[in-house]
Amino acid sequence: MHKRLFIPGPVDVLPEVLDKMTTPMIGHRTKDISALQERISEKLKRVMRTNNTILLSSSSGSGLMEGAVRCFTQERAAVFSVGAFGDRWYKMCTANSVPADLFRSDPGEPTTPEMVRQALATGKYDMITITQNETSTGIRNPMREIHEVLSDYPDVILCVDAVSSMGGDDIPVDELGIDVCITSTQKCLGLPPGMSVASVSDRAIKKAERIPNRGLYFDYVELYKFVKEKPYQYPSTPSIPHMFALDYQLDRILKEGLAARYERHLALSSLVWEWGKKNCALFSNPTYLSVTVTCLKNTFGMDFSKINAAMGQRGFQLSNGYGALKDITFRIAHMADMTVEEMKNMLKNLDEVITELKNGD
Ligand SMILES: Cc1ncc(COP(=O)(O)O)c(C=O)c1O
Repeated sequence: MHKRLFIPGPVDVLPEVLDKMTTPMIGHRTKDISALQERISEKLKRVMRTNNTILLSSSSGSGLMEGAVRCFTQERAAVFSVGAFGDRWYKMCTANSVPADLFRSDPGEPTTPEMVRQALATGKYDMITITQNETSTGIRNPMREIHEVLSDYPDVILCVDAVSSMGGDDIPVDELGIDVCITSTQKCLGLPPGMSVASVSDRAIKKAERIPNRGLYFDYVELYKFVKEKPYQYPSTPSIPHMFALDYQLDRILKEGLAARYERHLALSSLVWEWGKKNCALFSNPTYLSVTVTCLKNTFGMDFSKINAAMGQRGFQLSNGYGALKDITFRIAHMADMTVEEMKNMLKNLDEVITELKNGD
């Protein structure tokens, strides 16, 4: 039996979107692929609310994150981490010999504008990374306030991880001054894993051109040049099945409307927050809750894997806590094409399962 996924990616993909992946192949050096890529770029610009250049990568988002620290750090990177994925960005710096410092918040707390201001005041950093939406704790960082701080540091490049939020949350890339904004297909965009997207500003590319040792496969300059000079093509062979599905799914997303899509994600998250407050407790600071994934405290006095196994028998899969938060917390994702009715039905089943397990049924 397929379990309905309430995990923070990969998400369930609509059958009609999956079908598009079986479209017969076309060559990756053809006019048809350029037209497909151009259509995708124009639609992604609308979803990401940016005039920056769109780059696709036939890798998951981590590839573009690793490429970003190599390509855009000339002096030193300030990595702001609110959990596992911020920490991983720092590991990418050290693994690539990119000079970097890690600024960690307590688990469940955001990156504050004050933290960013203090770090930048040292004058040591020419690039910073922010996790807009941290999947391990369900924290949504205050991007507008952080952007305000950055307006005093116009030479600093801002790289943002929107892997688990773009397409669900309200993230106006240009208004927020984001130079490099990265997302993956398997989360709020509602596609299978295996492709990722970055929007990149011209000023970030100009800077990267002066930086040596950017790598090759994830070299933003190389990707950018190809997209510009070979109209909408890539240095290597892209995942053409993903591109067919993305082209179709972006039409669906734009038809729903960005505001309506955000409202739906907010409605889904509100249901989970209410359920969490009533039945256990929210793990993270309530002022900064993600609208795409919620991290809850496991106060039920039993391993979460037991609850998840019982939910599995009813056809639902939730997520245990991530890393050190395993079993202390669990996560419910509310992403992509999920409906309010589906969420209400899952929460009803969760109530029943917990009651049954507590009664030893
Ligand atoms: C916030 C965040 N950043 C980065 C990643 C890594 O993305 P990918 O698995 O697409 O490489 C994930 C994956 O779950 C994530 O949730």
